Amino acid sequence: MSDQAQKLGVVIVGHVDHGKSTLIGRLLHDTGSFMEGKLEELKAVCARRNVEFEWSFLLDAFQAERDQAITIDTTQIWFKTKKRNYVIIDAPGHREFLKNMVSGAAFADAAILVVDAKEGVREQTKRHAYLLHLLGLQQITVVINKMDMVGYAEERFKELSKEITAYLKGIGVTPHSIIPIAARHGDNIAHKADKAMPWFKGLTLLETLDVFEPIAAPVDRPLRFPVQDVYRYDEIRYIAGRVEAGKIRKGDVLTFSPSNRTAKVVSIEKWGSKHDILSAQAGESIGVTLDQPIFVARGDIASLSDKAPVLVNAFRANVFWLGKKPLKVGSHYKIKLSTYEATVTVQSIDRVISTDDLSRVEKDSVDINEMAEITFHSRELLALDPYQENAKLGRIVIVENHDVVGGGIISSEGLHDMRHVLHRTQDNLHAVDHLLAPAARAVRNGHRGAVIWLTGLSGAGKSTLAMRVEHALFSRGIQTYVLDGDNVRKGLCSDLSFTAEARTENIRRVGEVAALMADAGLVAITAFISPFRSDRRRARDAGGQAFHEIYVKADLQTCEKRDPKGLYKKARKGEIKEFTGISSPYEPPEAPELVVDTTTHGIDACVEMITEYIIKTIRGDLRQNVSSLAGKVSA
Ligand code: ADX
Repeated sequence: MSDQAQKLGVVIVGHVDHGKSTLIGRLLHDTGSFMEGKLEELKAVCARRNVEFEWSFLLDAFQAERDQAITIDTTQIWFKTKKRNYVIIDAPGHREFLKNMVSGAAFADAAILVVDAKEGVREQTKRHAYLLHLLGLQQITVVINKMDMVGYAEERFKELSKEITAYLKGIGVTPHSIIPIAARHGDNIAHKADKAMPWFKGLTLLETLDVFEPIAAPVDRPLRFPVQDVYRYDEIRYIAGRVEAGKIRKGDVLTFSPSNRTAKVVSIEKWGSKHDILSAQAGESIGVTLDQPIFVARGDIASLSDKAPVLVNAFRANVFWLGKKPLKVGSHYKIKLSTYEATVTVQSIDRVISTDDLSRVEKDSVDINEMAEITFHSRELLALDPYQENAKLGRIVIVENHDVVGGGIISSEGLHDMRHVLHRTQDNLHAVDHLLAPAARAVRNGHRGAVIWLTGLSGAGKSTLAMRVEHALFSRGIQTYVLDGDNVRKGLCSDLSFTAEARTENIRRVGEVAALMADAGLVAITAFISPFRSDRRRARDAGGQAFHEIYVKADLQTCEKRDPKGLYKKARKGEIKEFTGISSPYEPPEAPELVVDTTTHGIDACVEMITEYIIKTIRGDLRQNVSSLAGKVSA
């Protein structure tokens, strides 16, 4: 018998009535995994109650025993062959089972797909097969169960094998083998059914499982060390976690994401070992001490600097949806990404896939048990890897009200690293101080500089208001200039589209330019949809005290009715992708400095409100303070 490390995780999937439980009961029995006498005891109970014995009763009895001891969603059922230990990962209910599958709680090395010989391939069979594909499981065997119900007919087996092979091929899965079995009688499970099915020359199910190999820990991949906990002991701070990929060595310079801070590994400690160790690798749980007191928290991911995970605020995932409420554009969800939790918004539903024939379904929501390609947007920068590169970090679990409502794998498509967006002190740069204090400009102009940030849906009236306010301010002697979305996108941002990342970059540039203009003493008025709160927050950070957010409010219906550029009509026809309000979300401000509602107020009234607000803020106490400001000017 091999050691514990040789354990193989198996997941058994298939349509609900196709004999999963019977197969598990039989596997346990045929490998001698039950306590002595259990089978006889159950058979006697059945006889007493006058019910026919079923192999699945064994599983129920087994689970009942387990449930008394532990109350967790995942049931682990153990059995062994001469070669190694096996653990079948199961869950009490169908929904729980799927939740475990998508959340990775049921991290399996191999899968058995059960198909009823009489009923054949059903929708659930296909859905489960697709899920295996989605999760990247490669070691799959198909068992055609209940062969006794079809007279052990080779013809039927061949027919079904053809059907299932064709479907699996369509989703890119090649099963290791297809085995005709009768779980109830134990045919071709632990023992060859030479009498019943002499025509079958392949391996039994147990022999097949013994051919499979445990999936190796990704030691040769770039280092990924997600932080589980940070704690202090004897004045020393330990960063604790499990190395999920690659190797970590004493002396390595680690980059922590998403903060992008770096520090050197001083020591690596392993539980139970008295001395620190020189290195650790994927699969090991360790504690690390660093040479710098940088801020590190649960959810951060440590890597080597040259091979860090990408930092993104938008990503695409193939999602399996389990929520009773459909998934819709604009909805917010909590996602778990390794040890990190983040809030994301559904940016767009790019494709809904029918598991039946893998065709594309035209819809703008995703219902329970459907698969879809979704683009998510997050407020924070997230550190992640595509699933193809890292099965652990490339997987998300979607949570709503503490319930798992879906799971998915992150696609490599369209992942744009945004590490450069982080404010990082660049090496070899030295800020140069102006000889003029901001107060000097304010005194000369008679007002302070400002960033007046207008945000709202397309058609809400941002541009119209911005131009009118600019005019009103100018005629009152105020130095001002409008940065408008459509204009700026013709020049400074002509390289940017309307994907979430491109919008983020658009707003980053405009935020920085507006801040410079305010610093120069101007009142910069910006008119951009700027749909994401995180982007506007960054613009606020750039503008500092001078930044003022004005929400130009108008409901979607009104904007769509106005449709000044005819874009809503086009977007509805599907001619414009990711159009804000239709197929891409808008996140209204939570605490804007001013709200003007263009549905309830006329343009003139709104212009006046904004102009007044601006004049009050930029002139405010300026007159009273001219003398003290003047003092600062000469200082
Ligand atoms: S933002 O989202 O990045 O802030 P911005 O304000 O620069 O957008 O540009 C919005 C203008 O671009 C709209 O007024 C509209 O004229 C045009 N536009 C073209 N495609 C789109 C789209 N997919 N979503 C929103 N606006 C679009």
